[in-house]
Amino acid sequence: MRRILVTGGAGFIGSNFVRYWLKHHPRDRLVNLDLLTYAGNLENLRDVESREQYRFVHGDISDGVLVEHLFREEEIDTVVHFAAESHVDRSITGPSAFIDTNVMGTFALLEVARKIWATDDTACRFLHVSTDEVYGSLGPNDPPFTERHSYAPNSPYSASKAASDHLVRAYGETYGMQVITTNCSNNYGPFQFPEKLIPLVIANALEGSPIPVYGDGKNIRDWLYVDDHCSGLEAVIEKGRLGEVYNIGGSNEWCNIDIVQLICQRLDELQPGKAPYAGLITFVSDRPGHDLRYAIDSDKIQTTLGWSPAHDFQSGIEQTIKWYLENREWCEHVRSGEYRQYYEQQYGQRVG
Ligand code: NAD
Ligand code: TYD
Repeated sequence: MRRILVTGGAGFIGSNFVRYWLKHHPRDRLVNLDLLTYAGNLENLRDVESREQYRFVHGDISDGVLVEHLFREEEIDTVVHFAAESHVDRSITGPSAFIDTNVMGTFALLEVARKIWATDDTACRFLHVSTDEVYGSLGPNDPPFTERHSYAPNSPYSASKAASDHLVRAYGETYGMQVITTNCSNNYGPFQFPEKLIPLVIANALEGSPIPVYGDGKNIRDWLYVDDHCSGLEAVIEKGRLGEVYNIGGSNEWCNIDIVQLICQRLDELQPGKAPYAGLITFVSDRPGHDLRYAIDSDKIQTTLGWSPAHDFQSGIEQTIKWYLENREWCEHVRSGEYRQYYEQQYGQRVG
């Protein structure tokens, strides 16, 4: 039986992971530490919040006193570290929070784990959940990122995640801490905050607002259904080798404009509007430092841990679009308040 501290479990991937883990490992203890920033939302966890094995704690990963108390009180043996500032566009307009949480927060967590696990010879594990964006941008014909690809982050977000990856690695090498890092490609699925491409397209289409596509829309991302990321993390927690890095991805590369068109077409069928939704597509000024292409080579996790994604893109995007159609209230809640200000700041000038 594991005793897991999940950080950032009220966010998109974290809340999907909490649900996944409680379903597949009902006897494990799961403590979710989350600061509930704009991206954290307890509505994401309504269906599991009363589970006996689950506990939510409102707090900051940078609060060493709180984190140490939790480690001791809950006898934590596994950390699954999601908590982060995660949106590239926000990192361009306000990088400071990214350094605070992604770098200093990860450092604070590592310090507590080092202190408490130093005397512990049980199978402790610090799983650091990171991104493929640390590797920088690929050219159109480059092979996908392997775990040996050199780091070349281009945004304050990816630079802060790269810094945290290096800290995690150093704690493994220097202190013998029980660390593993995963670098995953773009996730999509239920509960993703509608500042990210896929839910933003769905939400804007449904309210008849312009759908902003940066630059020429030819940038490429490699999309993985969030549950497949969760099963990849499960494989790493259960079978991953300490000190190793695992890339997780679904070999599913798409140009942004193709994904946007696909979502519009499917919405036309599921929820027809007055005119085809594609008429809302608006090309806007590009994101500064916009990485051209990400693609993950997940051969290592597939061959050494036996993981593979269970969802193809067709079924994953179908489930995702239907989830957003069935959960419009959730979407309206998270798009009220701070989101409106953010949207105006990011897109006001761009879409007029
Ligand atoms: P998210 O922005 O949806 O959620 C982040 C969560 O962290 C929120 O619940 C927020 O309240 C919490 N948080 C932020 N600062 C905190 C702090 N100081 N202390 C405690 N909690 C704090 O992010 P996400 O998309 O779910 O991503 C989760 C992790 O996975 C991140 O580390 C991200 O870098 C990584 N990742 C994301 C993707 C993706 O496509 N979304 C892909 C690969 C890796
Ligand atoms: P995003 O979901 O922000 O993820 P990331 O930048 O971490 O890959 O963006 C995915 C792609 O979609 C990226 O190439 C930027 C582009 N994009 C748009 O064209 N318009 C938008 O409004 C957003 C949010 C993203």
